[in-house]
Amino acid sequence: MILMKKIEEYVRSIPNFPEEGIIFRDVTSVLQDKEGLHLAIDLMQETLKDVAFDIILGPESRGFIFGVPIAYNLNKPFIPVRKKGKLPCETVEMEYELEYGTAIVEIHKDSIQPGQKVVIIDDLIATGGTIEAITKLVKQLGGEVVKIVFLMELEGLKGRDRLKEFDVSSVIKYEGK
Ligand code: PRP
Ligand code: MG
Repeated sequence: MILMKKIEEYVRSIPNFPEEGIIFRDVTSVLQDKEGLHLAIDLMQETLKDVAFDIILGPESRGFIFGVPIAYNLNKPFIPVRKKGKLPCETVEMEYELEYGTAIVEIHKDSIQPGQKVVIIDDLIATGGTIEAITKLVKQLGGEVVKIVFLMELEGLKGRDRLKEFDVSSVIKYEGK
């Protein structure tokens, strides 16, 4: 009998990183195992099986890791959402809050056409601030977010509360922060 490891077992948890009291959920341990990588992509992709959509958006940098293989598998385009200052053409940008200070994400203005159905993919939802900012950019360009998919969710941070109007799926749920 082949014993398959569950996806949770590929995630390494590091206590007290980056600071005391925080458990860091490390995605590199999933990626560096060929079965872990397959399982993560397959399980995230599975959540899209009944979703009709046009494009996948993923935020730099960990959103690229999961967004591109899923876009490739499903034969859809991938739109990179970048941290400010990296994109060469005309962009729209949105500021969002971090624990200390703020950050800005950008996408090319011509990357979403009005009426397009958009899926957003990232590795993790913590406070939900990153993805909330991206949903605003999609709206600004006339797109419609039809699904948001994460590999991991830190339920204790209640990020989902900021994304109430959207269909959100996460493969692995952690009760704490
Ligand atoms: C991390 C993670 C998510 C985001 C989640 O990215 O990859 O994108 O934070 O946090 P939130 O739900 O509170 O917004 P980070 O900005 O650290 O950058 P990285 O992907 O380049 O590592
Ligand atoms: Mg990220």
